[in-house]
Amino acid sequence: MISLKGKVALVTGAGRGIGKAISLMLAQSGCRLILAARTREQLEEVHREIRGRGGEALIVPTDLTRDEEIQRLIDTAQTWGAIDILINNAGWGKRAPVVKGNIDDWDRTFHVNLRAPMILAKQFLPNMIAKGDGAVINIGSVSGKTGEANGAAYAASKFGLIGFTQSLYEEVREYGIKVAVILPGYVNTPLIPPNRQINRSKMIQADDIAQAVHYVLTSPATCCPVEITVRPQRTPYR
Ligand SMILES: NC(=O)c1ccc[n+]([C@@H]2O[C@H](COP(=O)([O-])OP(=O)(O)OC[C@H]3O[C@@H](n4cnc5c(N)ncnc54)[C@H](OP(=O)(O)O)[C@@H]3O)[C@@H](O)[C@H]2O)c1
Repeated sequence: MISLKGKVALVTGAGRGIGKAISLMLAQSGCRLILAARTREQLEEVHREIRGRGGEALIVPTDLTRDEEIQRLIDTAQTWGAIDILINNAGWGKRAPVVKGNIDDWDRTFHVNLRAPMILAKQFLPNMIAKGDGAVINIGSVSGKTGEANGAAYAASKFGLIGFTQSLYEEVREYGIKVAVILPGYVNTPLIPPNRQINRSKMIQADDIAQAVHYVLTSPATCCPVEITVRPQRTPYR
């Protein structure tokens, strides 16, 4: 996986924020991109940027809570042949105390953050195993290490994503497949609403997470950086 040129990468949540930064980095590195998220206009904008830089991409508007749309994404992706790199980046959550929690919201969180990554990995791994090369990178969160009030479903999904990553790594490491989870603290993306107490220029930037993904993908064949925590260098709190 040291050279990314010509690899086919699928990125979920590719329309904005961290997923957009990862997609642009991968295109810059020579990958052909399959971009998934719900909002077509955002995917089209990323597509335009990739094309403008001479890259190639396919957009597949997808709601990852819907099995038939996940299947359509898989079928469309496979028209490009095998997927070499799967980036499970899409994420969703709504803050609420458990006693006031909406069970449909919990299901949505688990589906986007954990169930869809597992389904996509299950579908794309057989080709990676056959090739003896490939990567599955999951975008977790520091909320996957420490729970907090009003964030139970999100934290539970991200704790689960770490368990999934560790288990998958053990299953496929002998095939030379990189499996990793990246755990960012607060990143300057639309997920974090404007807040007077936060200096956004001091937050982790989406490109910083893209760089961590690049590091995993280009790490030597003898090692796999299975878990990377990314924290802000300086406190962003005023
Ligand atoms: N920003 C942070 O501080 C931070 C910190 C730690 C971890 N993370 C994680 O990093 C990842 C990216 O977050 P971000 O900050 O870039 O958030 P963002 O700007 O809100 O982007 C989230 C992406 O996920 C997509 N998405 C959400 N629900 C979806 C669904 N049902 N089906 C398909 N796509 C869906 C969104 O597109 P549509 O809405 O168009 O579907 C969007 O492209 C997430 O997994 C998040 O949990 C973020």
